[in-house]
Amino acid sequence: MKVMVLGSGGREHAICHGLSLSPEVDKLYCSPGNPGIAQIAECVALPSGDNEAVADFAVKNQIDLLVVGPEQPLCDGVADVVRAKGIPVFGPSKAGARLEGSKDFSKQFMVKYDIPTARYATFSEPEKALEYVAAEYAAGRGVVVKADGLAAGKGVIVATCQQEAEDAVRSCFSGTFGAAGSLVVIEELLEGEEASILALTDGNTIVPLVSSQDHKRLLDKDMGPNTGGMGAYSPAPVVTDELMTEISETVLARFLKGIQSEGLEYRGIIYAGIMVTKNGPKVLEFNVRFGDPETEALLPRLKSSLFDVLSKTAQKKLDQAQMVWGEQPSVCIVMASAGYPGTLQKGYPITGIEAAEAEGVIVFHAGTAVKDGVLVNNGGRVLVVTAEGPTVADATAKAYAGVKKIHWEGVQYRSDIAYRAINRK
Ligand code: AMP
Ligand code: GLY
Repeated sequence: MKVMVLGSGGREHAICHGLSLSPEVDKLYCSPGNPGIAQIAECVALPSGDNEAVADFAVKNQIDLLVVGPEQPLCDGVADVVRAKGIPVFGPSKAGARLEGSKDFSKQFMVKYDIPTARYATFSEPEKALEYVAAEYAAGRGVVVKADGLAAGKGVIVATCQQEAEDAVRSCFSGTFGAAGSLVVIEELLEGEEASILALTDGNTIVPLVSSQDHKRLLDKDMGPNTGGMGAYSPAPVVTDELMTEISETVLARFLKGIQSEGLEYRGIIYAGIMVTKNGPKVLEFNVRFGDPETEALLPRLKSSLFDVLSKTAQKKLDQAQMVWGEQPSVCIVMASAGYPGTLQKGYPITGIEAAEAEGVIVFHAGTAVKDGVLVNNGGRVLVVTAEGPTVADATAKAYAGVKKIHWEGVQYRSDIAYRAINRK
């Protein structure tokens, strides 16, 4: 089988890794890919944002399955264009991708289908939004301010005081997030522990993957600015069997009913960011793609063919797919450039990846480049190091043993990934 993956991050490296281990796959392409992916796939540089170019390539190269990694091409409708050529695509339609592409649409969907989520209101004018913020604080409640559209993970401001909430509202409307901020969603601030629940759906069936938990803050003890994610582990002990049953009923089953009732073409992943509050699980957001870095922790635990399950999802035969998960927990640590998540210091040679691999870890590339034959850091999140182990503490120790072998100037990473899971034991 010939498979093509779109994307260039650690998530796409983990997807390519899983596909390269799938016995059905004999040719793997990735556009644009990265130097790590290039070791297991043929990287091609199709013009970014050009759906027709992807469709032409897929037709010419007789691709049997297209797997779309990031949200942007999904929101741009790549799945619709390629599927129209008769090629199976793992990834929702443009209409389905609005569940991530518009927070207002997503919240309306959750309310309509009774999916538990934070109370909210949507505004198109700053004055009304500021009045709402003032009223919430007057009633003793905190808020979270969200730009409606895609903002590369930066459009969510968890305000720590009224002033910060007001600044966030003004900043959204003044164009900090471009068109994404012309509508602003203001939500009730929820408290609890977060978990990521990813599920496969083909529109007929919905099947959860094993649970995971991300670490959004840059620094140890969950301090510092929000990032794309600094590490993850799977399973997330906060997601007990009982809680998973509740999430399956109140989130996943209702999600499936919702996409069916709305006629949304959806064959891919639905990622529910969940806050486990004292009033039960609530959805913080839907993403229409695999999480990053959750995927780098999750997929190595899948011991059956990744191709089989992705391709059956794309062909609306998910009910025939079987997933076999390893018992061992896994942990992944993100290694980032100096300056991340702000102005990055890039271009420093990276050493020690082979020595790390000798420790038994998998090293996924996220933001690397080859310059004059030398591997250098070229993005915010640069490498993601994954290990499995008999316990989450073992997996964490093994992952850090790998991390410690790798170096470049200014490298930063958290030293406490998985602390919640370890302390719980
Ligand atoms: P989102 O992109 O919507 O997942 O938001 C990014 C992060 O902001 C989440 O992972 C949470 O940590 C936080 N967040 C989002 N919405 C809320 C909320 N209503 N209450 C508390 N924290 C939130
Ligand atoms: N890890 C957070 C995300 O993928 O959105």
